[in-house]
Amino acid sequence: MQARNLIDLADMTKEDLAEIIRLAGMIRDNPSIFTDACHGKIMATLFYEPSTRTQMSFQTAMLRLGGKVIGFDNPSNASVAKGESLKDTIRVVSGYADLIVMRNPVEGSAFAASLYSKSPIINAGDGGHLHPTQTLTDLVTLSYEKGTLEGLTIGLCGDMKNGRTVHSLIKTLSKYKGNRFVMISTPQLQMPPYILKILEESGCAYSFSDSLEASIAELDVLYMTRIQQERFPSIEEYEAQKGIYVLDEEKMRLAKSDLVVLHPLPRVDEITVGVDDDPRAKYFEQAEYGMYARMALIITMLQSRSGTLPAPQRWDDARSCKNPRCVTNTESYVPHRFYDKGGRAVCLYCDSLLEE
Ligand code: NCD
Repeated sequence: MQARNLIDLADMTKEDLAEIIRLAGMIRDNPSIFTDACHGKIMATLFYEPSTRTQMSFQTAMLRLGGKVIGFDNPSNASVAKGESLKDTIRVVSGYADLIVMRNPVEGSAFAASLYSKSPIINAGDGGHLHPTQTLTDLVTLSYEKGTLEGLTIGLCGDMKNGRTVHSLIKTLSKYKGNRFVMISTPQLQMPPYILKILEESGCAYSFSDSLEASIAELDVLYMTRIQQERFPSIEEYEAQKGIYVLDEEKMRLAKSDLVVLHPLPRVDEITVGVDDDPRAKYFEQAEYGMYARMALIITMLQSRSGTLPAPQRWDDARSCKNPRCVTNTESYVPHRFYDKGGRAVCLYCDSLLEE
C-alpha cells in the first residue's frame, strides 16, 4: 500500500483493498499464525466521540496481533478538556505510538491530524463525513456473505445525510462494476450533493425511494442505519425523523431469499429484535468481521513509513469552507485548501462544495 494514512478509502487502490480482504480471510482462518505480527508495536486510540465496536475491535485487533494499546475514550479526561489543540495532541501522541486511530466529531479532522503526525493516522470516523474502516468491514462482510463486490443492488436506508458509514460505503462501492444504489430516506435526510456527484461521475445507477416496503423486494443487500441524533440541530428535528423506517419480520417476507441485511450498529429501533433470528440478518457477523478487517489493516499500515514528520503544508487559500462543522473552521491554524471537481471548488478536508 502506497498511502501512509487511511483518511478515506479512496487512499487505497482496488488492489490494496483486495489484498486486505484476502489477509483478513487468512487471519480469520489461521489466527495463530498472526499472534506476534505486531510484537513491540504500540497503537493509540484517540476517541473524542462514543464508540463500542470501532474502538474495541481496533483494540482487540492489536492485542490479538501481539501489540499494545494506549489512548483515551473520554476526551474530558484528556488535555483537550484544558484547551489543547488537535495539532498539539497529535504531535505528542505520534511520538509515543507507532499508529494512531482517531474518532472525532469534527469533519476533516483526520486529514488535519495527518498533517502533524509522525505516525500513520487511521480515520475511525470524522463527524458526519467518512468512516473508512467501517467500509472495510462492510467489504469484508460482502465478500464473505455475497461472494462478490460487483453487480449488486444495494439499498441504503435511514439517515443518508448524516451517516458517515453510508458516505464511505457509496464512495467505495461505486468503483466496482455494475452496482446500483437505492437510497431510502425522507427528503430531509437525503445524501449530500458531493456523494451524488461521485455516483454520477462513476456512472453508477441510483434511485431514491421513500418506502422501504416498496423497495425491499429488488435488493441484494439492505444496509440499515441509525438516525444520527447527535448531528441534528435540535431534538424536535430529530423527533420528526426517528422511527419512520423500521425493518421488521413482515417486511423481510417481501425480500429475496438471499438478501443480506447489514447495519454498522448500534441499532436503536430501526430493526426489530425479531429480525435477528432471520438467517439473512448478518449485522452481528459484520461486527465480528470488523475485527479481522482491522487486524489486516493494522498489519498493512505498520509496514508503511513511520517516525517522520510530514513536510509542513504552506498552501493557504483566502477562501473559507462554508461547512461550520469542518475542521478548518474549528482549528484556526489549519491551512485552507480546495480541489477542483468539474469546475467547482471542494474543501480538501470535508469534501463540501464551496458553493452548493
Ligand atoms: C457507526 C458510526 O459510529 O458512524 N457505528 C460504528 O462505527 N459501528 C454508526 C452509528 O453510530 O450509527
